[in-house]
Amino acid sequence: MSTEVLLPPNCTFDPHDWRILAQHWYPVALASSVVEAPISAMLLDEPLVIYRVDGKLVIARDVCPHRGVPLSLGTHDRQGVVCRYHGLRFGSDGRCNRIPSSPNTPIPAKLQLKTYPAVERYGLIWTCLGAPVSGEESVEPLIPTMPFWDDDDFQQIVCPTIDIAGFAGRQLEGFLDVAHFGWVHTDTFGDPDNTEVPVYTVVESAVGFKADYRSFVGNYPIGSDQRGQAGFEWLRHFEAHLPFAATLTVHFPEGGRLIIMNAACPVSARKTRLFAPIARNFDRDQPVEAVHDFNLRVFEEDRLVVESQKPECLPLDTMLEAHIPADRSSIAYRKGLRRLGLSSIFAA
Ligand code: FES
Ligand SMILES: [Fe+2]
Repeated sequence: MSTEVLLPPNCTFDPHDWRILAQHWYPVALASSVVEAPISAMLLDEPLVIYRVDGKLVIARDVCPHRGVPLSLGTHDRQGVVCRYHGLRFGSDGRCNRIPSSPNTPIPAKLQLKTYPAVERYGLIWTCLGAPVSGEESVEPLIPTMPFWDDDDFQQIVCPTIDIAGFAGRQLEGFLDVAHFGWVHTDTFGDPDNTEVPVYTVVESAVGFKADYRSFVGNYPIGSDQRGQAGFEWLRHFEAHLPFAATLTVHFPEGGRLIIMNAACPVSARKTRLFAPIARNFDRDQPVEAVHDFNLRVFEEDRLVVESQKPECLPLDTMLEAHIPADRSSIAYRKGLRRLGLSSIFAA
């Protein structure tokens, strides 16, 4: 059962689209960045504060119910987050548990934060603004699946976040796009001499679609000794989880597997925070910093393109932009978003 959710003030999304997007789960922080002290995040224009008390993770609207100061400006005294203005303290259920200026009077019920569900998975903290609140029937969170994350044969890596001044739909579509490697990723892994896209298939799934893309474009970094595996056909298996997440499993030579999740947090209609957990079953003894650096360079190449696209929204009416045969995934993505009920000029 979902609850009525109020639109945030200054919402940059179409209200109809916002209500649909608010029903889905998104990552809002790296788990490693949330210790006890409160940190701030933004999801769909809703300001959030994230903190831990007694090991319990709390996500709430970042507004003190007393006089509206963000709790993320406050501190933590081990029993809760302490507001910077008058020191009211909020505990693990988001309820006020201390009023320093009148410690012996009953605490009004209104001194309660608006909390959201919090789930830690893949080294990320996930939430959903439209999920049932505590006390109501709870449902299993529909968080995208990351293959091999719990497999002991794989190394798990969480990349630093990447902030993009663009819409999450444009960013995710770029992650699913197979025709841009030789044009955009020329400093990392793309091959400008191999830009033809062989025919590939796209199959609808319960949460989006899957695509198997086979080509001779390798995934080793430019300059690596292993590049030039002539004749090896690379399989890139995509699984899109709408609206803004996907995993890519790259099949390397000799059974190597590299899985990258692209989970885009729609901060607002024009801002995206990208989260990218990675799992691999090779080079497991190599420092993770090299993986971070390489992937940040790849995503940086994408960022420049995504931030320049016009219109900034993602047109879901397929008549609004031109398409080429390589766009099968992109068309499946747009049709899938349309099936969710999102507007044809999405996040305009
Ligand atoms: S505004 Fe937070 S304690 Fe007064
Ligand atoms: Fe890319």
